[in-house]
Amino acid sequence: MTMRYMPDAGRLYGPEYARDPQAVYAELRKRHGAVAPVEIAPGIEAHLVIGYQAALDVLTNVGGVWIKNGTAWQARVPDTPEAAGPVAMLGYRPNALMSDGAEHARFRKVISDCFDLVQPHKLRQMVIEVSDSLISQFAAKGEACLVSEFAQPIPARIFNALFGRPDSDSAGLIQAMADLMEADGERGKRGSDAFSRYIGELVQSKHAQRGDDLTSWFIDHPAALQPNELAETLVLVMAAAYEPTANLISNTISRMVSDDRYYSSLSNGALGTYDALMEALRAEPAMSNYGPYFVRQPVHFHGTWIQPAELVLVSYAAANTEPTNVPEELRSDGGAYLGFGAGPHRCPASDPAMIIAMTAIERLTSHLCDLELTVPREELSWRPGPFHRALAHLPVRFTPIRPDQPGESPWAVQPPSSSTPSAPTYQGRSGDYATSAPWSS
Ligand code: HEM
Repeated sequence: MTMRYMPDAGRLYGPEYARDPQAVYAELRKRHGAVAPVEIAPGIEAHLVIGYQAALDVLTNVGGVWIKNGTAWQARVPDTPEAAGPVAMLGYRPNALMSDGAEHARFRKVISDCFDLVQPHKLRQMVIEVSDSLISQFAAKGEACLVSEFAQPIPARIFNALFGRPDSDSAGLIQAMADLMEADGERGKRGSDAFSRYIGELVQSKHAQRGDDLTSWFIDHPAALQPNELAETLVLVMAAAYEPTANLISNTISRMVSDDRYYSSLSNGALGTYDALMEALRAEPAMSNYGPYFVRQPVHFHGTWIQPAELVLVSYAAANTEPTNVPEELRSDGGAYLGFGAGPHRCPASDPAMIIAMTAIERLTSHLCDLELTVPREELSWRPGPFHRALAHLPVRFTPIRPDQPGESPWAVQPPSSSTPSAPTYQGRSGDYATSAPWSS
């Protein structure tokens, strides 16, 4: 596919972009204004919406000019290895994220109804137990990588349990998600295949025996999802839950341990975990550019002509950080920014996501109160990929703590686990984190 746009398209891939995406957005803003031409992989072009008002104009006008179904775009994407990853992430699927109108409303209702059954205080307790069991595995070492040893396993274990899978599946899930999110050709395809297998096994086990878990509620929801719709909804929710939550946790911790305003707060300071989460959601949102949108007909939008079958990506990361004169209180999001999106496709699970991230970080910083990075924050390495802002590693050191120390210790609580695939995997706690589904009685 030849370049259709302006010749100086920005690159949302490669080490330079991964090192400092905000520098790339600033340069694009200078050269193009609110909407900029970019490549998300070699030969795969998109319009990147980097203006705050322009982003809101897209997100809150879905259903009119703007649509989520990218079938027309997909048909024009070249069949190259580089395109495989982006197509896996952006191509049409019968799920809430990629559909419009009544189809979207039906899928979204299944997700919202079932998540409503997860009780916040039970979820919080579950996060405490998972966090404490993870902390207990590295607390005596005095050092850890908080991406692989904490931020990634937290949502993997929590959602394994909520969906009704055993803890032993967490490692495979983490690898599949990492491959899928890199979106770099063959590796993206491999991740997509591994993830599909994971979901296939999940559906099979729950069809064999229901439990008090999200998968069983999805299966029995009155919307009566067809088998492919069910699988795609599970793929979406698991992917949407795992990757951004892991990244929200690690991005936030990386700020807290490298900024004096938070550093002192670990023991006794001015700004706390909630402030750090808000700042991470604004300046480094986990789903940095994963807002795919399309137009029904040609549109002249903030100075750029956009044609049907062209990919538009809302950059939550760039829109959030656009220098603006609009006072915070006048912004339509009341200062919460676009970290969770906006409009009809806004994240339906921002509350549980915040409970998970907030609780996990509070557990970590209450057990290990002198965490510090082993390298300056500027030297941390970030995973490549156009869609996310994801640390590859988060190396920290701290004063080791040991089980025989007095006071509350993380290993007092046993990690959740289960070897029974057909029962809810949160050991011995069937139905404990949820109310029962009204449609199952
Ligand atoms: C409990 C964990 C989470 C779950 C289950 C979840 C689930 C979802 C789902 C199903 C959607 C699609 C909704 C629709 O299209 O109607 C969505 C959208 C979205 N989510 Fe989440 N999410 C979670 C955590 C997060 C986190 C931590 C972030 C960012 C920090 C995030 C950011 C977003 C954004 C920006 C969108 C909008 C995408 C768009 O505009 O197309 N989510 N989420």
